[in-house]
Amino acid sequence: MAAYEYETHEYDVVVVGAGGAGLRATLGMAEQGLRTACVTKVFPTRSHTVAAQGGIAASLSNMGPDNWQWHMYDTVKGSDWLGDTDAMEYLAREAPKAVYELEHYGVPFSRTEEGKIYQRPFGGHTTEFGEGPAVQRTCAAADRTGHAILHTLYGQSLKNNAEFYIEYFAIDLIMSEDGQCQGVVCWKLDDGTMHIFNAKMVVLATGGYGRAFFSATSAHTCTGDGGGMVARAGLALQDMEFVQFHPTGIYGSGCLITEGARGEGGYLTNSEGERFMERYAPQYKDLAPRDYVSRSMTMEIREGRGVGEHGDHIHLNLAHLPAEALAERLPGISESAKIFAGVDVTKEPIPVLPTVHYNMGGIPTNYFGEVLNPTADNPTQVVPGLMAVGEAGCASVHGANRLGSNSLIDLVVFGRAAAIRAGKVVDRAAPVAVPNQASIDKAFDRFDYFRNAKGGTPTAELRLEMQKTMQSDAAVFRASESLKEGVEKMTEIAAKIPDLHVTDRSLVWNSDLMETLELTNLMPNAMATIVGAEARHESRGAHAHEDYSERDDENWRVHTISRVDGNKVDLTYRPVILDPLTTEDQGGISLKKIAPKARTF
Ligand code: FUM
Repeated sequence: MAAYEYETHEYDVVVVGAGGAGLRATLGMAEQGLRTACVTKVFPTRSHTVAAQGGIAASLSNMGPDNWQWHMYDTVKGSDWLGDTDAMEYLAREAPKAVYELEHYGVPFSRTEEGKIYQRPFGGHTTEFGEGPAVQRTCAAADRTGHAILHTLYGQSLKNNAEFYIEYFAIDLIMSEDGQCQGVVCWKLDDGTMHIFNAKMVVLATGGYGRAFFSATSAHTCTGDGGGMVARAGLALQDMEFVQFHPTGIYGSGCLITEGARGEGGYLTNSEGERFMERYAPQYKDLAPRDYVSRSMTMEIREGRGVGEHGDHIHLNLAHLPAEALAERLPGISESAKIFAGVDVTKEPIPVLPTVHYNMGGIPTNYFGEVLNPTADNPTQVVPGLMAVGEAGCASVHGANRLGSNSLIDLVVFGRAAAIRAGKVVDRAAPVAVPNQASIDKAFDRFDYFRNAKGGTPTAELRLEMQKTMQSDAAVFRASESLKEGVEKMTEIAAKIPDLHVTDRSLVWNSDLMETLELTNLMPNAMATIVGAEARHESRGAHAHEDYSERDDENWRVHTISRVDGNKVDLTYRPVILDPLTTEDQGGISLKKIAPKARTF
């Protein structure tokens, strides 16, 4: 057994991760007087939310008629009828409240002439239950909305006496013998000391796992650490096969160009200069949802109408927009286009390509943020002491495809919901339970194994193999043969984890070891993704299967539940929650309105 000395910290709540969801949860907990620690591997304002550009969806009606029922309907349709209806209602209903709270906390939103929060159109957001024109629902702080939110929430959390443990890497969850989460084991990166955070509630807000793929808009820190810890604790992941490709990653670098660019009037063209989205989505054109636009772009390229020397990308045109509008509304992407593509957006189109952007799947939760451990008898069984929010979690409001700007609102609505729930279920007066020593020892043993790993496979080499395989075999379009091959390759790749080689044995700023631990987190996420995709014999949302091109509600309107053990994935399924929180009589939306139908735009 590995012997590491450690310091123990006791809290009511420990939040792991300091992006939008982690900080909103931290702030909400601290505001209620819960003793709250936020543990994060990067400085809070460097979390990946800082890169979120276009905005946050809420039916404020600042730019025209809107209401939460229309927002809910768009989210249901956007999800291709795989989202949980109760959670989607909660999201759409609470969104305006959550955005006004952000405004009052100090988020510097862009403003209309009248001084209201500025809202722009985004893909899939419509009026009249998908029958009316596109709506301006996405609240924006220029094209730096995530940056504005993150900085504000960090300041407010400090003001409310939340305690931050910065550059602490979470190694594993501490689980009791009877399945209760009791805390988390952490490694402090800058001095090599070990820490146990022992808490009544642990909130995983660790973000997505975009870096399981070769080209992603996600930061290099998006390594699915929460999903990895959950998988090792024998708990479930949900709907991992649904991976969103953002239509406009800069060709080559993958850097994000916000959908807000199309919201402000930008459009896509092929090698013939044609605005091809008019053919694929006659009503909403370039403002169709992302899965739709990414598939249309891929089809144009496949059919020989891609642009550039190799005909392998598409043009995003902004040069027709007034220079003042670009400077005021889209300053960030104007700069990114210059730096990463050498393009002056006032004169030339930006070369773009669908790029991995978001994981719809994650750790299953209810709409309070409580983690679920679904069984056949009890599909909504709660894991005591454990919550998950943000991209790490799967509430599930995005189902098979997320609408743009529904991510930032997911972060704040469910970060806030978790805090409200914790305020009710955490007993402030009770002592923190003594943590399970066997679980702590197991975490240190695993840490020590990789610290001293002397195998034949360098971490960077195995990571690249995984990324390339995921990129080619779990792509925008998928097919039985490539998925089967992908599963075989990934099974072999994941089997090499015990053979990793770490060169640096120190404990202080050992990035070799940290990247290795991150790879051990990425791998179960990637395995669940490819195995879940191979098993799902239909097309739904972001899962476009060429051999099963139709959505099959009779057999597949179910959530995929995966449990990963090494390179093995066990799949089961749980029902989608079909009932909303309120009925039509109570001001809610009728079941008839949200019944599945063909998804056209
Ligand atoms: O395009 C964007 O600004 C990204 C927004 C989102 O993913 O919600």
